[in-house]
Amino acid sequence: MPRTWRAPGRVNLIGDHTDYQDGYCLPMAIDRECRVTVAAPSGPGVRARSAQIPGIVDVAADGTTEPAGVEPPWGRFVAGAVAACTAAGIRVAPSDLTVTSTVPAGSGLSSSAALAVALVVALTDLADAPLDRIGLARLAQDTEVRATGVPAGLLDQMTALHAVPGHVLLLDCRSLTAEPIPLPRSLGVVVVHSGRSRTLVGSAYAERRTEVEAAAARLGVAALRDATEDQVRDDPRARHVVAENARVLAFADALRAGHTGELGPLMLASHASLRDDYAVSTPELDRAVALLMEHGALGARLTGAGFGGCVVGLVQRNHGDDVLAKVTRALATVGEVDPLAFAVRPGAPAAEVTPEVGAAPPAG
Ligand code: GLA
Repeated sequence: MPRTWRAPGRVNLIGDHTDYQDGYCLPMAIDRECRVTVAAPSGPGVRARSAQIPGIVDVAADGTTEPAGVEPPWGRFVAGAVAACTAAGIRVAPSDLTVTSTVPAGSGLSSSAALAVALVVALTDLADAPLDRIGLARLAQDTEVRATGVPAGLLDQMTALHAVPGHVLLLDCRSLTAEPIPLPRSLGVVVVHSGRSRTLVGSAYAERRTEVEAAAARLGVAALRDATEDQVRDDPRARHVVAENARVLAFADALRAGHTGELGPLMLASHASLRDDYAVSTPELDRAVALLMEHGALGARLTGAGFGGCVVGLVQRNHGDDVLAKVTRALATVGEVDPLAFAVRPGAPAAEVTPEVGAAPPAG
């Protein structure tokens, strides 16, 4: 009998480019997800199909298939997951997989982490491997590094694995802990695609990471988490990381205290810092932020790595539809052919999907 596992995408409300410097992030899993269904094998290895993209992916079950050579490219995650599991001593049995996703690809909403996490929770459950949620996050991160070569942090995987419905998460990327904080019922979260898709491969992501690692080394600190604003005053990249950490903690305090008026300005300051100091925004991302603010959002910023993809907006929940309609119309007016803008709710963590329970048999 086939079994299915799911993992959500995410938006990051604040705290970008901090995770790989032991910093803080404040993401929430969203109600869009990737599902992996595993059925009995039809061949000697792991065979995978996507419900959305044509093509069949065949991967050796012993982890020897080199991800970079796999086509179509999403199949590199299957090869990466099998190789990552094998390297961790987890045996992968031959099987047939079907992958389906409602997280828009190339949008900065962690469609690839959702795929990697769904794959590793499926493969480790099937192998009865006793991994905790941090071990699973690291295995999914290893999957993604093998599949794409991008040295990403743990933000996306930790979010998918620690999500709590109705809550955002304060992630501490040093202690690897996730504190759930309720999202006030009066607030809504919307996502607007900038119109330009994003890919981390070949982007300046790795370059930024090297720059801030060098800054930490120069200062003699383990990570910029340990640096003060004074120490980084003249280095825009490091300045972003230090200031962003402080903004995340202020955002979390404001949420806990119910001071919702402080949230929007912190998001705007974060966007300005990502644009001016970290240099990962684009004119289209800046435009989407401006449109959200013009049409009634409380705050907005690019979310995730930048270089294209989506922005996230915070809205009064009962104004969400109105803001989305106005922003969509404005994007169409400036020539976006198919503007993508939607509301998201804080979703559930990665897990096996419980099979639907059939209707109870009639009494008597
Ligand atoms: C991508 C990476 C994350 C994180 C963000 C920026 O989403 O996968 O690890 O670094 O960019 O915050």
